[in-house]
Amino acid sequence: MTPGASNARPAPAAIEVHDARVRLGDTDVLRGVNLRVPMGQMVALIGPNGSGKTTLLRCLLGLQRLDAGNVRILGEPVGPKVLRRVGYVPQRLPLDPSFALCVREFLALRRPDTRLWFFRRTRATDDILLRHAPGLGMEPLLSRPLSGLSGGQLQRVLIAYSLLGDPELLLLDEPTAGVDTPGEQDFYQLIGDVHARLGITIVLVSHDLGMVFRRASWVYALNGVICCEGRPEEVINANSLKAAYGIHVTPYHHHHHSHAPVPPEGVPITLHRR
Ligand SMILES: Nc1ncnc2c1ncn2[C@@H]1O[C@H](COP(=O)(O)OP(=O)(O)O)[C@@H](O)[C@H]1O
Ligand SMILES: [Mg+2]
Repeated sequence: MTPGASNARPAPAAIEVHDARVRLGDTDVLRGVNLRVPMGQMVALIGPNGSGKTTLLRCLLGLQRLDAGNVRILGEPVGPKVLRRVGYVPQRLPLDPSFALCVREFLALRRPDTRLWFFRRTRATDDILLRHAPGLGMEPLLSRPLSGLSGGQLQRVLIAYSLLGDPELLLLDEPTAGVDTPGEQDFYQLIGDVHARLGITIVLVSHDLGMVFRRASWVYALNGVICCEGRPEEVINANSLKAAYGIHVTPYHHHHHSHAPVPPEGVPITLHRR
């Protein structure tokens, strides 16, 4: 410990948002969002459709201008320099079926040391790709055409792609949107493993509250503002969500039981706007 560490400032936050306001068309989508995500956490951002989750991520990525307020990422204002340290998997990637790259060629574009893959031995490229995006099951997919993958495989490739930039912060916007239900649990397991292995900060936008309950260390519930935050067990009970949103919280049934045990009150539930 360095001298004076006892009265040191708190560790810099991975994300700090102060009073962020965004108006799109005639809707006040973000109405004063305040948020602080400490480094190294895996946190969830939940909220019904249209509550501003994607808009907030776009603000963090400098893709959406704020009408008021400010955002800092990894201790710096949002800009090209700090964004190099951030990975992002968008909610949707519309892919033309004629898109001709195979997974190896697509992933290789992400890194300066693999970009010129056609001058290298395939094995050398693959070694780099697999080393920087470990545990995502990429090896058997490398020679497959990108446009022929299933939704779950494509999402894994997109996560691998974002990890190849060695990000310190990873933003995932509803990463299971195109994944079938049995695949979803494996998928969250995979993200949990990535977090455990790399120790990076992960923000997961989701409305799968069962997943949030099992995997996130902290939950932010958004509806134009952060209307509540806390540990999953504090935020995700029907009463606090109802108070926050005035929404229906509907338990649904799983038809498979191979996933980790769910705490009794943590029955998977989905959010619907009333
Ligand atoms: N470009 C846009 N112009 C006008 N309204 C928009 C635009 N993008 C999003 N919105 C509106 O902003 C609100 C929040 O959208 P979004 O951030 O995508 O929510 P979420 O990701 O939580 O579903 C929605 O009501 C949506 O219709
Ligand atoms: Mg969205």
